Amino acid sequence: MKTKNVLDLTDLSHKELLDVIRLADEIRKKPSDYADACRGRILATLFYEPSTRTQMSFQTAMLRLGGTIIGFDNPQNSSVAKGESLKDTITVVGGYTDIIAIRHPMEGTAAAAAMYSPVPVVNAGDGGHLHPTQTLTDVVTLHNELGRLDNLTIGLCGDLKNGRTVHSLIKTMSTFKGNKFILISTPELTIPQYIKDIINASECTYEEISSLAEAMPNLDVLYMTRIQRERFASEEEYQKQHDVFILDKDKLKAAKKTMKILHPLPRVDEITVEVDYDERAKYFEQTVYGMYGRMALIMTMLEKGEKEFPSRVMPTHPFRCNNPKCITVTEKYLPGVFREAGGDMLICKYCDGRRLI
Ligand code: CP
Repeated sequence: MKTKNVLDLTDLSHKELLDVIRLADEIRKKPSDYADACRGRILATLFYEPSTRTQMSFQTAMLRLGGTIIGFDNPQNSSVAKGESLKDTITVVGGYTDIIAIRHPMEGTAAAAAMYSPVPVVNAGDGGHLHPTQTLTDVVTLHNELGRLDNLTIGLCGDLKNGRTVHSLIKTMSTFKGNKFILISTPELTIPQYIKDIINASECTYEEISSLAEAMPNLDVLYMTRIQRERFASEEEYQKQHDVFILDKDKLKAAKKTMKILHPLPRVDEITVEVDYDERAKYFEQTVYGMYGRMALIMTMLEKGEKEFPSRVMPTHPFRCNNPKCITVTEKYLPGVFREAGGDMLICKYCDGRRLI
């Protein structure tokens, strides 16, 4: 694999992604062939935010490959509680291990960690920004359940503003031809403009609507999402949104018999339990596909083997990111890092936030 880190799944070329998907399938069919694939290698899972699936599937993935794991699932039990910076934590953990999976509430954290890590970094979710290994989970599921990743009509429903799984999934599925995204949300929770720009620049299309029932008959895939309570400014704002879209048996009557229902989980109340018994519900199978996807990704990322220590030259930039949720707000030593977007516009390389020069 050309890239050292996976901050988003689009860091992989199409060929690299398809190779990982194929490897995940091979491992799923014959896991015993891979039981020693990562013998002697160590994965660190640094989870500054709660998780069930991502953390445990990374851990089981490494254990099933014969490797071992270290890490924390509560930074208050580490020296983060004493004020240790992200830079120092990553530098030290990178010295102990062979690969790091990191989840953090601030956007762009994985990109910041990658700047200082001598070992590959995987983004296990950075605030409301991106979640590439959930997308890997999703594409392994779609590849197995539908046999293709192109020319699909994909409904994405719920919190499209804060849902990092939605952002990463659209970015990756936009690289396949002919996909049509039906974006189903309230006006308050629509998809960020930069994601719409990515679709507009691709060979895919999108439509924004506010009715799940209206979208249902045309969908090949329905990707339901949780309203992200932890990303709201107030409980009052969350209460206005949390039960707007609920998938139940009745609504499913209008759907294609072949439609697949996905959800990154955890579910709260946006899918009723009765739907779990419908053949089209694939969200629990999805969690298992995700573990094999992570096994394949870990193996691929560890192919290179040797550590790459970061440059001793301290980077600087005159501008700071304006996004209040960007990691540069809380880790103030981080240099501004931008790419130019034409005109006076700069895009923050950590969090994709826009600012003018
Ligand atoms: N899908 C997902 O990221 O789940 P967890 O938050 O439980 O890891």
